[in-house]
Amino acid sequence: MITFKKFYVTTAIDYPNADPHLGHAYEKLLADFLSRYHRQKGENVFYQTGTDEHGSKIFQTAENEGISPLELVDRNSGRFKEFYKLLNIQYDNFIRTSDKEVHWAGVEKLWKALDKSGDLYKKSYKAKYCVGCESFKTESELDNGECSNHPGKELTVVEEDNYFFRLSRYTARLIKLIESDEYRIRPVSAKNEILSFLKDDVKDISFSRSRDRLPWGIPVPGDSDQVIYVWADALTNYLTGIGYGRSGFGKWWPADVHLIGKDISRFHAVYWPAMLISANIETPRELWVHGMIKDFRGKKMSKTVGNVIAPASQVKQYGVDSVRYYLLRALPSNQDGNYSEEDLVVRHNSELVNNLGNLLSRSLNLIEKNGGKVPIGNLDSALKSSHRRALEKIEEYVDDFEFHHAVSEIWKFISTVNEYVDEKKPWELSGKALDVVLYNLAESLRLISSLVYPVIPGTAEEIAKQLGLKSVPKFGDSAIEIGTKIKKGEHLFSRI
Ligand code: MSP
Repeated sequence: MITFKKFYVTTAIDYPNADPHLGHAYEKLLADFLSRYHRQKGENVFYQTGTDEHGSKIFQTAENEGISPLELVDRNSGRFKEFYKLLNIQYDNFIRTSDKEVHWAGVEKLWKALDKSGDLYKKSYKAKYCVGCESFKTESELDNGECSNHPGKELTVVEEDNYFFRLSRYTARLIKLIESDEYRIRPVSAKNEILSFLKDDVKDISFSRSRDRLPWGIPVPGDSDQVIYVWADALTNYLTGIGYGRSGFGKWWPADVHLIGKDISRFHAVYWPAMLISANIETPRELWVHGMIKDFRGKKMSKTVGNVIAPASQVKQYGVDSVRYYLLRALPSNQDGNYSEEDLVVRHNSELVNNLGNLLSRSLNLIEKNGGKVPIGNLDSALKSSHRRALEKIEEYVDDFEFHHAVSEIWKFISTVNEYVDEKKPWELSGKALDVVLYNLAESLRLISSLVYPVIPGTAEEIAKQLGLKSVPKFGDSAIEIGTKIKKGEHLFSRI
């Protein structure tokens, strides 16, 4: 029996207190690219995303809307799902933390494991809480008394008896884990930031809330006056979604990559591995931290400023693959990036319409004019090595979480094929010489279909279909069969 390498990738689970936005979309797209890339390598992939449905933010939003928290999350988590469908995000599991059957037993189990290790204790506490971050803030973390992630939002003062998690006990072990890349954090700037946080004075963290104040959450096992802190609950989704507290957990854990935004790196790089070590569970392999999407001027998008880009309307206007292509190619995956609609249009016209769309249509026109079937031939050695080099480079870039460079390598290969056509001038050829070029075009387009699939899966499928293939080929599939009847269709993209 052949066994395939497993690859478990997760994204952050979104707060469904409002509609999904471009930042949510971007992260799920990065994970979609990564998981489709690993599927193309023939690996056994599990991609999990979902919604984070407890905590003060959800509770307060529901109160303001005059509905129950459950009504709110039921309504909104559906919107997230629909939205990801629109973007052609192919996840394997969508977890909802309010799902008692799937999630709660595992959270309780983990809580008990922390307790058994002696890492939970109760104490009375008073501190400022940012509902936006769902996190307590020390004075030194505030900017002129305000949370830097949520300027202008008032902080709540919380004074109550809470369970605390003995985070301080794990500092030295975490430093070792991260410094050695046993838990590999990318980009290196994010790793360094976490290490400097850990080398400072790390304090224990409040891990529960009084149920009187916040009735919406998972009760602390053995103390129903308290609910589990929303982050302790939410982080556990990475385990419960694949069976922890139920069954089948061992198949996928540890996570190969947790993909998250930089505003929540501390929860994933510090709290999460500490909880796992305490519970005697293997730590995840990698944490990849993406930047924030800003407007075309580099300003944070906000409803008040009025510079928010609604991704659904972008998809409607430009098509899903143009938006996916733009986000993956033009924005650096591991840094902040600016979203410019103007740049999207320029890239659409030059890189999708001209480089890719025209290559397919002119190649298939030529094949059609000359019998409509893939003639006998062999892949040109220069094209072959250029494809091999592209695959190697793509692998390096993907592993370094530089997806924008990986996508650029794919388009370099497309350019090489375009150069091949220009150089061979098939319109001036006939007979065997022409056949060889036509074969090379068909086989190169087959390779292109397999390469672009993680970026623009719908287009990859269309290329495969027009080439007469049953499905998008994987990276390791064999060459196109001689005699394959092509099925020339519409141009892949229209000019904007
Ligand atoms: N619920 C928590 C995560 C819990 S994970 C166990 C949360 N939710 S969120 O809805 O606020 O954010 C979800 C993800 O979207 C985060 O990784 C966050 O970084 C990302 N983004 C939110 N705004 C963003 C941008 N403007 N740009 C890019 N990503 C951003 O945090």
